[in-house]
Amino acid sequence: MWLLPGLAWALLSSALALELSLQESLLLKSLGLSAKPSPKTPIPVPPVLWRIFQRRKTQPSMNKEPVDACRVEEFDVPGDIIRVFTDQGHFIPKGQPQGQLCLRKRLYFNLSMLEEDENVTMAQLEIKFHHNSYHTSSQGQIFELRLSQPSQVSLQGMPEPRQKLLVEQSFAQLHKSLLFNLSMVARDWRMHNRNLGLVLEVAVSGGDEVNELQGLCTSIDSFLDTSLLVVTLSQQCQVSRRRRRSAQHPPITLSNLCRPRRLYISFSDVGWENWIIAPQGYLANYCLGECPFPLTAELNSTNHAILQTMVHSLDPQGTPQPCCVPVRLSPISILYYDNSDNVVLRHYADMVVDECGCR
Ligand SMILES: *[C@@H]1O[C@H](CO)[C@@H](O)[C@H](O)[C@H]1NC(C)=O
Ligand SMILES: *[C@@H]1O[C@H](CO)[C@@H](O)[C@H](O)[C@H]1NC(C)=O
Ligand SMILES: *[C@@H]1O[C@H](CO)[C@@H](O)[C@H](O)[C@H]1NC(C)=O
Ligand SMILES: *[C@@H]1O[C@H](CO)[C@@H](O)[C@H](O)[C@H]1NC(C)=O
Repeated sequence: MWLLPGLAWALLSSALALELSLQESLLLKSLGLSAKPSPKTPIPVPPVLWRIFQRRKTQPSMNKEPVDACRVEEFDVPGDIIRVFTDQGHFIPKGQPQGQLCLRKRLYFNLSMLEEDENVTMAQLEIKFHHNSYHTSSQGQIFELRLSQPSQVSLQGMPEPRQKLLVEQSFAQLHKSLLFNLSMVARDWRMHNRNLGLVLEVAVSGGDEVNELQGLCTSIDSFLDTSLLVVTLSQQCQVSRRRRRSAQHPPITLSNLCRPRRLYISFSDVGWENWIIAPQGYLANYCLGECPFPLTAELNSTNHAILQTMVHSLDPQGTPQPCCVPVRLSPISILYYDNSDNVVLRHYADMVVDECGCR
């Protein structure tokens, strides 16, 4: 006989677990994720994303200007999602030498994590070299950097496919970090649903110290790091570009009337701590309380709710009170790893309850 309650409990808890996992997958989907990410080889958070995240977090207290959830002030472009893609390309054999070609590398950024309805508003390539700068020591020597976009897949043994030259620049020294505007290229990849990557070439020319040039080349190609920062505007921002107020702490009043209540959601409590980098949790709040007759202006009711409370006061059994629900919400920013281990900073609308109302 004692088995029965145990069995009932087991059934109930497995039903509950099923319900929870369904809820979780719906929630992840609304956050733009196909499944719960489990970063295998998480890359360090790019400093630029940390800076933006920190600035957004501290902004509300510093100035009272509302934060526009659909604009990235740091780059002065529309957008609510910032991703940093790491390069998945590989070195290409140099082929027939032209001058002193130090390196030739295919750069490939897999943008398939972008959703269909996101618009790319900015794409910036960063090429980092290991040392602060490489100086050519002899007079007249310069570095040449070329970035081109292949228009066909290259096949072994076939003539070189045509390439569109995007950037050709000469430098007296190579700085630690070089930035290139690839907005048009990234849009092109998405529009044609075809991404053959890029080809990066770095050459040294001038001077006649061949051994010295060789040495420079070797040090360059062993420490190359390239990444692509992409800002997009999600559907959420394209639909409503309402101005939203930034999060405020709900006023503390002692009454059982409808009002926001304090609720801190910790991401580790919901088992999301290994893919959400920051914050560790946030003040989400919720609405709770009575919507009694007569409804006052502070309860932010609709005309419908006012009539409903009147009817309710006449016939409490037949008609319920209006509900205490969120009427104003504000966004927060979350820094996380997506399903392909890219680092993403995304502004999520409607995450914090600021005001409640009887509806
Ligand atoms: C790009 O990533 C998607 C999903 O992460 C994967 O299915 C696809 O094979 C990748 N494409 C390439 C060319 O690596
Ligand atoms: C986003 O892109 C689509 C298709 O390219 C375009 O129709 C739409 O106007 C764009 N939306 C914004 C907000 O730029
Ligand atoms: C990058 O290029 C796009 C398209 O060519 C242009 O609209 C945009 O202003 C450029 N951004 C910067 C920062 O130069
Ligand atoms: C109703 O809105 C006002 C301002 O619009 C706000 O001060 C008040 O807290 C809101 N009431 C509730 C119950 O949230």
